[in-house]
Amino acid sequence: MIYNFDNVIDRRNTGSVKWDKKDEVFQERDVLPMWVADMDFPSPQPIIEAIKQRADHGIFGYSTMHDGYYDAIIEWNQRRHQWSIEKDWITISPGVVPALNTIVKTFTEPGDKIIIQSPVYYPFTNAIVENGREVVLNRLQLENGRYYMDFEDLRNQLDPSVKMIILCNPHNPGGSVWTKGELQELGEICLAHNILVVSDEIHCDLVYTDYKYTPFASISEAFEQNTICCTAPSKTFNLAGLQLSNIIIPNEDLRQKFLDAVSRTPLQLTNPFAIAATESGYKRGDEWLEQLIAYLQQNVAYLTDYITTHLKAITVIQPESTYLVWLDCRGLGLEPEQLEELLIKKAKVGFNQGYTFGPGGEGFVRVNIACPQSVLKEGLTRMDKAFQELEHTSQSLSGTQNN
Ligand SMILES: Cc1ncc(COP(=O)(O)O)c(C=O)c1O
Repeated sequence: MIYNFDNVIDRRNTGSVKWDKKDEVFQERDVLPMWVADMDFPSPQPIIEAIKQRADHGIFGYSTMHDGYYDAIIEWNQRRHQWSIEKDWITISPGVVPALNTIVKTFTEPGDKIIIQSPVYYPFTNAIVENGREVVLNRLQLENGRYYMDFEDLRNQLDPSVKMIILCNPHNPGGSVWTKGELQELGEICLAHNILVVSDEIHCDLVYTDYKYTPFASISEAFEQNTICCTAPSKTFNLAGLQLSNIIIPNEDLRQKFLDAVSRTPLQLTNPFAIAATESGYKRGDEWLEQLIAYLQQNVAYLTDYITTHLKAITVIQPESTYLVWLDCRGLGLEPEQLEELLIKKAKVGFNQGYTFGPGGEGFVRVNIACPQSVLKEGLTRMDKAFQELEHTSQSLSGTQNN
């Protein structure tokens, strides 16, 4: 089946966070929302059909997973990522973020230190700080348009109270798909210092041509035993609203501790639509996903071309994965609040502001390009217009001063 990603579908009044909460979030009307990480595309047809079929049954009692669900996940990981996992390793959570909070509370003590590699998805910081743990910032280095890990800095910051790292593989917002070599070096450091690796791999299925995602735990048996891997069908198939993620924990002891922790919360419950959708996506979603990735790559190319031609002070950090594109706006010479004001109030585009991703994010913005290309074009045109007005105003101001 050929999917048409150019179709513009009105998502307003569907209870969409991205579209229905935007006025509140941006404190401005008529902002084009290109922020929170979901897509303006319908999910694969087999998923829609599986949900309809489940709805037709009419009974929606407490639900659990069956063998077909586990087989779908196991086969997907084998087929697409050459990673062999076992049924017992798979646990569930309504989301990766709730799981991260439980993991932090279960495997560290108040006052322990947890490494993150900033700029990074901001709920990592919240999961650490709000649970009374301490952040160790191992800042990524931007070199020739790609983010790299800084192992020297990491080694320098280690002490016995560092107990965990929350890794983002692939990385949000920088878009790096960590190479096997990079992960290997990181993993060796963690093993040598008894640091548990919590690898958030939620973006792993959205990897662009020429790049290869490596599941962190797949690298060696020692890594496997020292990893909690957070995955989900939500980014892959646009199912965030169904709230189901899979936390894969090969180490029996770690898994049991996690399960004991979730058994004291409602996190072990899920809904029948999420189960049907997940199983169907992992079994029959490949064709849609291939087409989606091709479309997203076209959007990245379009965005890059537009920015290079019209918005020369901005640099696109070329994503190796994810539909979240990180723009380096430091060339505009604006303070983060001025940049935010210009984008929201003047251009009326709703992006995620870079500074919210922690140190190193200032002067950047994160743009969600998972929308029809006509919508992306509209966002870029709005930016261009606002920037031209700014240039015009500053030219007239400097003209006034010169006179
Ligand atoms: C790296 C990363 N982890 C987790 C999430 C959210 O996961 P969930 O909705 O399963 O809590 C996102 C969403 O953008 C993300 O980018």
